Amino acid sequence: MPDESLFDALRREPDAEAPNLHAVDAADRLVLDTVAELPGIDRTMPIAVIGDRYGAMTLGAVSLGFTAVRVHQDAVTGARALELNAARVSLSDSYTQHTLGAELLTGVGTVLMQLPRSLAELTEIAEHIAAHASADVVVLAGGRDKHMTPAMNDVLKKSFETVTAGRGRQKARVLTATGAVASGMTYPVSKRIADVDMTVVAHGAVFAGAGLDIGTRFLLEYTPKMLPRARSAVDLGCGTGILATELARTRPDLEVIATDRSAAAIASASATAAANGTRISVIADDAMSTFDSESVDLVVCNPPFHEGAAVHTGAASKLFVAAGRVLRPGGQMWTVYNTHLNYRRELADAVGPTDLMGRNGKFTVARSVRPSEQR
Ligand SMILES: C[S@@+](CC[C@H](N)C(=O)[O-])C[C@H]1O[C@@H](n2cnc3c(N)ncnc32)[C@H](O)[C@@H]1O
Repeated sequence: MPDESLFDALRREPDAEAPNLHAVDAADRLVLDTVAELPGIDRTMPIAVIGDRYGAMTLGAVSLGFTAVRVHQDAVTGARALELNAARVSLSDSYTQHTLGAELLTGVGTVLMQLPRSLAELTEIAEHIAAHASADVVVLAGGRDKHMTPAMNDVLKKSFETVTAGRGRQKARVLTATGAVASGMTYPVSKRIADVDMTVVAHGAVFAGAGLDIGTRFLLEYTPKMLPRARSAVDLGCGTGILATELARTRPDLEVIATDRSAAAIASASATAAANGTRISVIADDAMSTFDSESVDLVVCNPPFHEGAAVHTGAASKLFVAAGRVLRPGGQMWTVYNTHLNYRRELADAVGPTDLMGRNGKFTVARSVRPSEQR
């Protein structure tokens, strides 16, 4: 087990911090203890860490003596949190970051991972491991009992001969998968959504898969009304890039950027635009942190409302504040949200005067206008 002082130093920054949200969990600890006890592991051989939330698994592996630690995190916020935490414990440069694929996994004999929430993401990860890692790879996939389902074992069994569940500890458990069986790649998948005449392309980790979220569907109806004089638009938290694609193909004068903190989302958005014969720019970023202030005319957003396991509106608030900074005076943000979330006040504070433009049984569409004068 890595020294407890390592875990004490870890923070979630730049993700929301709150007393009920932690940077290390029982699954991180159990996976690290399990790998520490595995017999016969050569700690100079490459090891891959997948889905590390804030760096506990990666930095824990380094502190256990692994010298070639390769990391894949879907969220740029996770990658940034790892970077910040590595600096806090003087372990910067002790690992390398990679996309999910051959560069991450070739020659790897051990994989440590946090089980992702969705089976689609788990399928994509498992298929990549089976395709690229050593045939005798050992995968230690940790999760918290309340988020684990028998279906996760079934997914792993499609890519590995043996999958066993270890004993639980502190409401966490490790699945051990061995005997990799490469069987081709399911993702990205693509699906035609006939009534909106769009083909959606999705990697495993992306929100709503290759489907069309009902909130997004409602916001799509409003795209012709969104600031007709706009020259630039951002699909903030773009997922598969449906909103960006719709704007780009219906308004050719608009320069459209799709941005999301998820690497899977960015890859999916690019592919969705291409599949519909249009072009957008994509930027992996945490809440437009790299965008200039007052640089964009229009922002469209179907905001996230889950922060890890806890329902927490911090993630949405962060996007609203970012839009308030990035919009030009007179620029507009169009947001769709579940009506009970009642974001109007918050949007008004973060962006500017906010009107409710539409409401159906479940969702509200709001338009917020950035004032001409700095408030
Ligand atoms: C409800 S989904 C909407 C996805 C897509 N726009 C759609 O309508 O299908 C919210 C998206 O916000 C992204 N997201 C969450 N926090 C973010 C952040 N801090 N910066 C950028 N994107 C973020 C998530 O990765 C997710 O793709």
